[in-house]
Amino acid sequence: MSNLSRRDILKGAGVLLAGSALPVSVVELAFADKSQNFTFAYISDSHIQHIKGNQFVRNWDRGLIRAVAETNLMDPKPDFIFYGGDIAQLGKKSEIDHGLDILSALRQKVHYVMGEHDYYLDLGDYWKSQLGPDYYSFDHKGVHFVVLNSIITHDEWTYNRWANGTERMGVMAGLDDPNGSPFMVGDKQRAWLKADLDKVDKNTPLVVFSHSPLQKIFKNWNFWTDDAEQIQALLQPFKKVNVFYGHVHQIQYNQIGNISFQSAMATAWPWPYPRSYSQAPSYMPKLTVPINRADPFFERDATGWQYIDIHSGNAAMTFSLADNSTRTVAFNPKTGQPEDTKYQNNTIPPQEHY
Ligand SMILES: [Fe+2]
Ligand SMILES: [Fe+2]
Repeated sequence: MSNLSRRDILKGAGVLLAGSALPVSVVELAFADKSQNFTFAYISDSHIQHIKGNQFVRNWDRGLIRAVAETNLMDPKPDFIFYGGDIAQLGKKSEIDHGLDILSALRQKVHYVMGEHDYYLDLGDYWKSQLGPDYYSFDHKGVHFVVLNSIITHDEWTYNRWANGTERMGVMAGLDDPNGSPFMVGDKQRAWLKADLDKVDKNTPLVVFSHSPLQKIFKNWNFWTDDAEQIQALLQPFKKVNVFYGHVHQIQYNQIGNISFQSAMATAWPWPYPRSYSQAPSYMPKLTVPINRADPFFERDATGWQYIDIHSGNAAMTFSLADNSTRTVAFNPKTGQPEDTKYQNNTIPPQEHY
């Protein structure tokens, strides 16, 4: 921890950052004393997929390779890097090893988040043997960072519903398999989180990482965490809370009380958008901020990268999209929520690739 006062952090003047196209999320935290500013990078959802022998699905490899290369070109260099989960597609050692081999070219420490694709084959044993605990916290320059494993499920599902790990992983790898289990953080981690946060001053900026959203968006596709409200209740006492997540492979943002939610895009592929799944009868809209999306019919859209600028404790996300205009979702202090700076009130954003 630096000796910078927390008040200085919260007063921190906004910074203007040159927009550059990076296939990673770059996060800058700005302080009143600019020498304390720092950035971190964020890469997510690479889904490295083994075919046979030394063959892996090339597209997914290329997304991660490019993200790593661009991260190594960042200037200023990030203090550290977050990986948002789903290194592997089917949780195989070969996939995790291959993904970690690509990621080993990164020059800074990487903090990892567990994804369901890393977990359901062997309940995360191999991932943990290589990367350590799946939930933890640390402090960096006056900011408290927390990582949770949000994709575990009830023992009944884990141990009784499927014949073996391969079957369990196969079901969980599907987007909308009705035999898939719900996600949760669970009692044990919530007790740990409560004890961890009890020690932190409530004025400290809090940045939380999970794989699935710690909010309820669409249950059928597990864009959902069952105990989201209980976790939100633990985060609400803090003045400035930003939650970042992967898993949804698309741009999402929302505000619940003091908590700003932002998703990271995938380096692999995009999933469809809320408008397309709002037809489903079980759609349960919990978003407090309407999301305006890029093109749902363009297969590479909403994969890409974003630049995250956290100034004064609120995140602004600038998305560089494959074939669309750059989009920025920034916290609007007047409304107290993140909003698309250009298109928040448009129902159909302009598409540039036609
Ligand atoms: Fe994913
Ligand atoms: Fe996922």
